[in-house]
Amino acid sequence: MTPPTHIEPWTAIVAMAPNRAIGLNGTLPWRLPEDLAFFKQMTTGNTIVMGRNTMESLPRNRPLSKRRNVVITSSEDEMPGFEKIRHLDELAELPTVGMLFIIGGAQLFNATLPRCSELYLTHVKDHFEGDTFMPPFEQYFAPVETLEETEAMQIVRYRNKALTSHDAI
Ligand SMILES: NC(=O)c1ccc[n+]([C@@H]2O[C@H](COP(=O)([O-])OP(=O)(O)OC[C@H]3O[C@@H](n4cnc5c(N)ncnc54)[C@H](OP(=O)(O)O)[C@@H]3O)[C@@H](O)[C@H]2O)c1
Repeated sequence: MTPPTHIEPWTAIVAMAPNRAIGLNGTLPWRLPEDLAFFKQMTTGNTIVMGRNTMESLPRNRPLSKRRNVVITSSEDEMPGFEKIRHLDELAELPTVGMLFIIGGAQLFNATLPRCSELYLTHVKDHFEGDTFMPPFEQYFAPVETLEETEAMQIVRYRNKALTSHDAI
């Protein structure tokens, strides 16, 4: 029998096109200022955790301001402004600064989604080509509420199905 997954107080946050694309050529396939504003509003003052490829997609490889930036990588390279961790185990041990957001990309989502309490998912309505895709999340999460809807996108908050309504997150 598979042991139950331990759910962590982690929140995944991502934007995805209808074909599940989340990235193209190491960057975002779209320009959606209203989604970036939502991302900034949610993550400012909190901890963001990203894979190395996502770190390399940031402008000039600089950390995002007013946030604690953590990157998971086996690289020995200096990454000024980032806290480096090598294994997911270290993530569970990290002393928390505010909320902990898993911000991608696909490899990191693949490893962490079953253990995330919540998922903030921006459904991008237009079709975009991609080379990086959102791993399956539907088996782990149920939609709770739509937070924002525009012509271009719908932002939905999902909750891990393994949590009961009594669990604080
Ligand atoms: N649409 C969105 O909301 C969104 C969000 C984030 C990213 N993106 C896009 O997604 C793309 C990047 O995603 P990606 O899947 O290629 O890469 P990624 O997950 O950002 O980074 C992969 C790298 O991170 C490290 N890593 C990831 N998971 C790990 C784990 N469980 N344990 C240890 N190390 C781990 C490894 O680094 P080492 O090789 O150094 O060991 C791995 O090679 C870009 O196009 C980016 O723009 C889109």
